[in-house]
Amino acid sequence: MSISAFKIANKLITGAAAIEQLSAELTRLNVQNPLIVTDAILVQSGTVDLALAQLGGRRYGLFDQVEPEPEIAIVEACTRAYREGGHDGLIGVGGGSAIDIAKGVAAFAGHEGSLGELFGVDLVKRKGPPLIAIPTTAGTGSEVTNVAIFSDKQAQIKKGIVSDYLLPDVALVSPLMTLTCPRSVTAASGVDALVHAVEAYLSVNASPITDAIALGAIKLIVKALPKAYANPSSLQAREDMATASLMAGMAFGNAGVGAVHALAYP
Ligand SMILES: NC(=O)c1ccc[n+]([C@@H]2O[C@H](COP(=O)([O-])OP(=O)(O)OC[C@H]3O[C@@H](n4cnc5c(N)ncnc54)[C@H](O)[C@@H]3O)[C@@H](O)[C@H]2O)c1
Repeated sequence: MSISAFKIANKLITGAAAIEQLSAELTRLNVQNPLIVTDAILVQSGTVDLALAQLGGRRYGLFDQVEPEPEIAIVEACTRAYREGGHDGLIGVGGGSAIDIAKGVAAFAGHEGSLGELFGVDLVKRKGPPLIAIPTTAGTGSEVTNVAIFSDKQAQIKKGIVSDYLLPDVALVSPLMTLTCPRSVTAASGVDALVHAVEAYLSVNASPITDAIALGAIKLIVKALPKAYANPSSLQAREDMATASLMAGMAFGNAGVGAVHALAYP
């Protein structure tokens, strides 16, 4: 008989007040000086402030140069900021782009060679600094997966680092972080989550565990995505979508995806 493994972030904290657990989790992980990895739009929209307010008075650094579908060079720039700032932990606040950059830094910060050596499967040698993922889209599910995706502009392809050492220590999933999502992002990232769940359910590597989670995600998305789109300030719809996106990430992170996502690669 074949076996299947099930791996997700070490701890999931969900619900509107989840963000209030940030300081306690930093204390538990012994982080005194985290680097917040995010993008400029999230700073301008005030979404990052919700996380900054929960740092418990710690000093911190802010790297806000993440861009959508981030390039490899952003991992290198963010890792420089991490090393130069003497940071001891990472908080990814954003959509998949910011969370993936934080994961890339977690992999690269303690690596002595080049970043290029880490692209591929299981090439990261050791666990990096503590990593907390706070999604602001619903979404990619990156807060619970062991993969980080970057664009290689020169080669015009997407490249990934796949390693269980990328699994975040904590996923803090609060619908409050998604309230500022414009409709276009709500729709696109919501459909991304739906496709993750459908592809995981149809995957040849699906298990009874991933099937149950994928079906649960699909049910929630079908109910909540039209509501979140029609009424962006509906906390219930945002919470259902945040939970569904997390569940879809748990499903595809273990069952894998299929042809739709394969189209993103040459
Ligand atoms: N690691 C994984 O498991 C995984 C899975 C799927 C996709 N991805 C990657 O994730 C990236 C896409 O992530 P995404 O779809 O979450 O989008 P994104 O992170 O690229 O964000 C898209 C835009 O929405 C804005 N935005 C995000 N949250 C917002 C908020 N709350 N309020 C206002 N604006 C907000 C961002 O500033 C950005 O301009 C791609 O690079 C993709 O390859 C990773």
